[in-house]
This record gives sequence, C-alpha cells and structure tokens, in this order.
Amino acid sequence: MPGRKFLQVPGPTNIPDRVQRSMNRPVIDHRGPEFVELTRSILPKLQRVFRTDSGIPVIFPASGTGGLEASLVNVLSPGDRVLAFDIGHFSNVYARMARRLGCDVEVVELPWGSSIPAERVQTLLAEDRDHRFKAVLATHNETSTGVTCDIGAVRAAMDRAGHPALLLVDTVSGLGSIDFRFDEWRVDVATAGSQKGLLLPPGLAILCVSGKAVAAGSSAQLPRYYFDWAPVIEMNRKGWFPFTPATLLMIGLNEALDMLHEEGLENVFGRHERLAEGIRRAVESWGLPLLARIREEASHVVTAICLEDGFDADRVIGLAESQYGLSLGIGIGPLQGRVFRIGHLGWLNELEVLGTLAGVEMTLASLGVPIDLGSGVAACQRYFVGG
Ligand SMILES: Cc1ncc(COP(=O)(O)O)c(C=O)c1O
Repeated sequence: MPGRKFLQVPGPTNIPDRVQRSMNRPVIDHRGPEFVELTRSILPKLQRVFRTDSGIPVIFPASGTGGLEASLVNVLSPGDRVLAFDIGHFSNVYARMARRLGCDVEVVELPWGSSIPAERVQTLLAEDRDHRFKAVLATHNETSTGVTCDIGAVRAAMDRAGHPALLLVDTVSGLGSIDFRFDEWRVDVATAGSQKGLLLPPGLAILCVSGKAVAAGSSAQLPRYYFDWAPVIEMNRKGWFPFTPATLLMIGLNEALDMLHEEGLENVFGRHERLAEGIRRAVESWGLPLLARIREEASHVVTAICLEDGFDADRVIGLAESQYGLSLGIGIGPLQGRVFRIGHLGWLNELEVLGTLAGVEMTLASLGVPIDLGSGVAACQRYFVGG
C-alpha cells in the first residue's frame, strides 16, 4: 500500500523522523567517552520529564513489563503485603506479577472502565493499623480501558490514612503524554517504557526511584540480579552500566527528550488533551459508548470504544488494517471482540487524528455499524477549529 501507514495502536507509537535519523548511525563503545557523555546528558533530562529533583532515573534494556518487575523485586520481600486495584489488564498484570514473585497481594476488583477510588485506598490503609501493607500498586493510565487515574489523589489518601507504604506507579502509557509529578505526588517508584510518550521504538524500561525506595532496596529480599537497580545507580555515576546498554536506543532517547523539552511538557500535555477531546467528540457523534465510565477520567492517550452485541470489534480492527493500513488496538482479555481502541499518543497532530477517524468511519460503515459517514470527522473538525 503506498503512503505512510497509520500506526494508531496505544503504543508503540509513530517515531519522529528526527529521532529515527539520530539512531541511524554506527554503534558506539558503551564505555567510551561519547557514551559516558550521553548517559550524563540523558539522566537530568529524564528527571525533568518525571518532574523530580531528587528521584533517580534507572534504565534497563527491557520492555515495560520488565520495568514493572524491577519496581517490585527491588523494594519487596517474600510474603510482604501489597495493595492492588484491578481496573483493567495492565493493573491486573502488575498485581499478578507481585503475587507470582511471592508477595501477599490484596486485589480490589473493580469494573473495567473505572479508576482507582482514592477513598477505598484511604479506608483500606486506615484499617491496616499494623502497617502490614508495604506497597500500593497504582496504574497511572490503564491502556486496556482508556482510563487515567488521579495519582495525586491516591497519594493524598495514603497521607490521610497516615500510612507509610511505598507508592509504586505504572506510568508506561502516561509518562511524556499526560501530567506526571514524581516529587509532588511523592511517588516511590515510577515505571515507564520507551515506546509510548517517549517517542522511541520498544526496548527500554525507564524507572524513577525515590530515596525511600532506594533505602527499602537495601533490606528487600526478593531475588534479583539483572533487575537489581543498585549496580545501575552506582555505575551510572561514571556514565556506565553493569550490562551492555541499548546504545542506539539511548541515542534516540537523548534526541526524543530534547524534542519533548523543546515543545515544552505543558504543550505536549495540552496537545494530547486536545487531540483526545476531538476523538471523544467524534465517538459521541457516532453514538458509541466509551468504555471509560466517567468522561472526565477518559484517557488523553487512548480511547476504548464499545460496540453493541452483534458487532465484532476484531473485524473492525482486521478491516481497518487490510483496507486502509490503519492499525487500531484490540480489546484485551475479556474485552476482546467487544472493544476497539484508538491510540492517540506520541508524535501526532490534528490531521493525522482526522485521517484516523475517517478510516474508522469507513471501516464501521463497511461492517454495517449504523453511523453517518463524516459525522465523527465533522464533530472533531468543529472542535479543532473552535466552533
Ligand atoms: C499501562 C501499561 N503497563 C504495562 C505495559 C507493558 O509494557 P510492555 O508491553 O512494554 O512490556 C503496557 C503496555 O502497553 C501498558 O500500557
């Protein structure tokens, strides 16, 4: 198919040409002076994206899932109590991972499409008078349902309960696209991945670690070797890593961070909010429900759209791909066939969103879903021109 493909899954995302070009070069020595300088350039720029002065960024060649594992094994011990909320596939993965690693996980199950209820966090922690919960797991942006959680409210609830548990946040699909405040929310470990808001291909797990989390690491007993962050933090002081880092991805990361800071984080967040609102207006004009139960909690990076019984969302995804070269996100787990997702994060603009919506409309109409061709595109256009 001629022309550029539309990669509108909620990560991996489209990569700016500038980032791609930066990586199109010979591999460098990971202990040579150029790499040392690169590490020293990247770490403070990452701190700015996490919005932290004191948090320590830690990079592993891994996917986001590897980063989540690192966030657990460095601070917890077998049998430690952990509080988790099942609000979708990825929060469920985080909870299951902690259990598999040997923690005693209490999972609060909520209908998918909900966010983490801060008042439940407060109640459960206030009841835990002996402070047996060692950590609270929270998913900043639940990519499977298109819901963003208010991590500031979770932190405030923990404070109201006067509970010292660590706050571990999965922001794999949030960081670099929606507001994240490591210091202000006193997050202990935040986990991100390279392939979403950070404008890179998959391959890097990027964490940010508080002093409290580093201290917890010195007594944490879960087994770890590769994902032990202590040697990474130690060797990063010299600009090195205790393993072979993904050198070319690191070069791309440096470039991508420059691009985010040149645009300005507030502008990046504003752009995501605006594109997302345009998409929501389109979906509403089609008369299709969002999976997010509360509109204000609907994510600015991914929109999960429900189809009525009798329509198979997987056919929408298959036809969009084969007919228009448009990749959409599937419904994961129990949502498969019922939901399709439009990813709208990373390096994206208004016309690309309108092209995506046009492709979705043509696909839905071809499959007999009762929508008016052009209605969603027009609703989005009206929003974009401010009418
Ligand atoms: C919120 C969230 N957490 C974790 C992951 C897992 O990351 P990865 O697929 O890079 O292992 C994803 C991936 O989409 C995600 O969206």
